[in-house]
Amino acid sequence: MTAADIPAVHELERRLFPVDAWPLQMFVTELAHSETRRYVVAELTGQIVGYAGLMCIRPIADVQTIAVVPEQEGKGIGSALLTELIRESLLRRAEDVLLEVRADNPRAQQLYRRYGFEQIHVRRRYYRDGVDALIMRLRLSAPEPDTAEPAPTPREADRP
Ligand SMILES: CC(C)(COP(=O)(O)OP(=O)(O)OC[C@H]1O[C@@H](n2cnc3c(N)ncnc32)[C@H](O)[C@@H]1OP(=O)(O)O)[C@@H](O)C(=O)NCCC(=O)NCCS
Repeated sequence: MTAADIPAVHELERRLFPVDAWPLQMFVTELAHSETRRYVVAELTGQIVGYAGLMCIRPIADVQTIAVVPEQEGKGIGSALLTELIRESLLRRAEDVLLEVRADNPRAQQLYRRYGFEQIHVRRRYYRDGVDALIMRLRLSAPEPDTAEPAPTPREADRP
């Protein structure tokens, strides 16, 4: 995403997120922080049909936004955008990717689950219209083994 894309992206934003659309300035600010952000657009015959953004402050990467125009849903564009954000998270050596998603958005949740995201928390009445947010996490690296105690041998772990 470049500065020239912002007016078109913002128009989509207002259409796709009528309750809590970001102001245009938010995209300007996000793009200005390229050291911790990566924003991408999906184009089809020269038209922007989707966009997504990531913030990465190690060890955590956060999916800031992801959206596809309704006319082009179900064609793999959302998956392509998410793949790009996960690739970027790996490049930036994030350990976890986090996101929040509306509890009443099963389509997006399903997309995230397909990529291995798991729900780790619920933020009650997080959105302006009172809907809960589900916090989902994708682990990119295995958690450090607990060094305080020796790991059990397989035989011990198997014991009932
Ligand atoms: C959530 C969202 C980003 C998904 O985008 P999308 O482009 O429809 O996503 P995809 O096409 O990659 O995947 C959606 C489904 O289409 C299917 N699909 C993918 N490629 C396909 C293809 N070539 N042909 C047919 N179906 C396909 C996928 O299997 C997937 O199925 P699933 O719902 O069972 O997981 C989109 O619906 C959206 O923008 N919604 C409004 C905004 C929003 O809710 N954003 C998320 C905020 S957290």
